[in-house]
Amino acid sequence: MSATTAPKTFHVKSFGCQMNVYDGERMAELLGAQGMTAVGKGEDADLVVLNTCHIRERATEKVYSDIGRLRRDDGSAPLIAVAGCVAQAEGEEIMARAPSVKVVVGPQSYHHLPEMVARAAAGGRATETDMPAEAKFAALPKRRKSGPSAFLTVQEGCDKFCTYCVVPYTRGAEISRPFNDLVEEAKLLVAGGAREITLLGQNVNAWGSEDDKGRMVGLDGLIRALAAEPDLERIRYTTSHPNDMTDGLIDAHGEIDKLMPFLHLPVQAGSDRVLKAMNRSHTVESYLALLDRIRVVRPDIALSGDFIVGFPGETNSEFEETLRVVDAVGYAQAFSFKYSPRPGTPAATMADHVSAAEMDERLQRLQAALQRNSLAFNQKTVGNKCTVLVERKGRQAGQWLGKSPWLQSVHFTGEYAVGDLVDVELVEAGPNSLSGRVL
Ligand code: 5AD
Ligand code: SF4
Repeated sequence: MSATTAPKTFHVKSFGCQMNVYDGERMAELLGAQGMTAVGKGEDADLVVLNTCHIRERATEKVYSDIGRLRRDDGSAPLIAVAGCVAQAEGEEIMARAPSVKVVVGPQSYHHLPEMVARAAAGGRATETDMPAEAKFAALPKRRKSGPSAFLTVQEGCDKFCTYCVVPYTRGAEISRPFNDLVEEAKLLVAGGAREITLLGQNVNAWGSEDDKGRMVGLDGLIRALAAEPDLERIRYTTSHPNDMTDGLIDAHGEIDKLMPFLHLPVQAGSDRVLKAMNRSHTVESYLALLDRIRVVRPDIALSGDFIVGFPGETNSEFEETLRVVDAVGYAQAFSFKYSPRPGTPAATMADHVSAAEMDERLQRLQAALQRNSLAFNQKTVGNKCTVLVERKGRQAGQWLGKSPWLQSVHFTGEYAVGDLVDVELVEAGPNSLSGRVL
C-alpha cells in the first residue's frame, strides 16, 4: 500500500487478557464503522493493529518480531498500528526502532484510531498514549452483533500497585464506567445474540457507580440489574482482588441464579512474607477465610487463581507454602507465571533474584499441583446435571463444545447451534475438559 491510499481492509490481532480481547473487538467495530472490511490474516490486510500485552515475559521483543513477520514476500508491509499496553509503556521507543510502525495508540486512546490511521495513510506517523478514559467509550460505535458469550469492560485501571505489576502504569488509575452506559451496552449485546456476559476489569470488584435511582452501588448492584434482563442467561466477572470482595458481592453468589458459580480470585503466593513484599495487602489466612465465606453461600463455587513463582527473595520453603494453599483451596483452574521483572515497577530493583533453574522447577511443581486440583475438581462434578452454553463445533463430526456453569469445557454430540443452552449429565472428566451426555 502506498503512503497516500487509505486502507480498505484491516486485521486486529489481540494478545493477553480478556480486556484486550474486548478492546480488540471495539477497535474492529470502530474501523468497520469507517467502512473498512475485516480480513482473517494480517498478511492480507492494508492495516494491521497489534493489540499488545505487557504482562508476559519479553513482551516488547515479541512485538518487534510480529512486526517483522508482517513483511510480505514482495518486501511490502501493511500499515502497522501498535495498540495495547506495550504501546502505552514503550510507544516512543517503538516509533524510534520500528519505522514500519505508523501508529502507536494506548488502551485509553483507541477511539482516535480512525483519524490516526488517516494521518498515517497520508504519509505521517501518529502517537497517542494519553490516560483519561472517560471520552473513549462515548466515542465508540454502539455494540451490534455478539457471540453467545460476550465481554463487557466495566472498570479499567488499578490503584493497588502490587510491586511486580505494570498495570497501574499502563492502564492508569481505577475508573468505573457509569451504570446506565453499562446496562445499555449489555442490552445491545443481548439483542445482538449474547446469552452470557462476562464483566471485565483489572479490578472488576472495585467497580462502583450511581445506579439509575442515584444510589451508589457496587458490582453486586450492577449484577442484580443485569440479571433482570430476560434474555441474558449467565453473568460472570473477572478479575477480582481479595480486598474488594464486599459482603454484598459475596451474598450475590448465593442469591442471583444467573451469577455463575465461578470466581477468579488471585492469591499470587502462599507466604505472608512474600505477599507483603508484593504489596498484596492480604494474608493467606484472610484469603482462605474469604473463600470459606463464599463457600457458605455457594458451596459448589469453582475457584480460579493467578500465581507467581520466584518473586525476588522467595525461598524454597516459602514456595512450598504456595503449594499448601493450592491443596487447601482445590482450584478448578488457574494461571501460573514465573516472576519476570517489569521496568519501572518496585520489584524490578529488588535484590535476591531466584535462579532460572529454581524458577523452572517451582513452576513445574506448581503446575503439577494445579493440574491435580483441576482433575479432582472436574471428577467431583461427574454425575452432575447442568446446562451447557454451546460455543462452537468440536473437531469430530456432530461434536459440540460449550461451557458448564463452572466454566469447564464440555463436549457432547447432537444437533445444536452456537448459543443453544443444552442440559447434560457430566459423564467423564479430564484435567482440561469433560464429556457430557445430553439429557
Ligand atoms: N511477573 C510474572 N507474573 C506477573 N503477573 C503480573 N505481573 C507479573 C510479573 N511481573 C501475573 C499475575 C497477575 C497476572 C495477570 O499476571 O499473576 O495476576
Ligand atoms: Fe496488577 Fe495487583 Fe492491580 Fe492486579 S491488583 S492489576 S496484579 S497491581
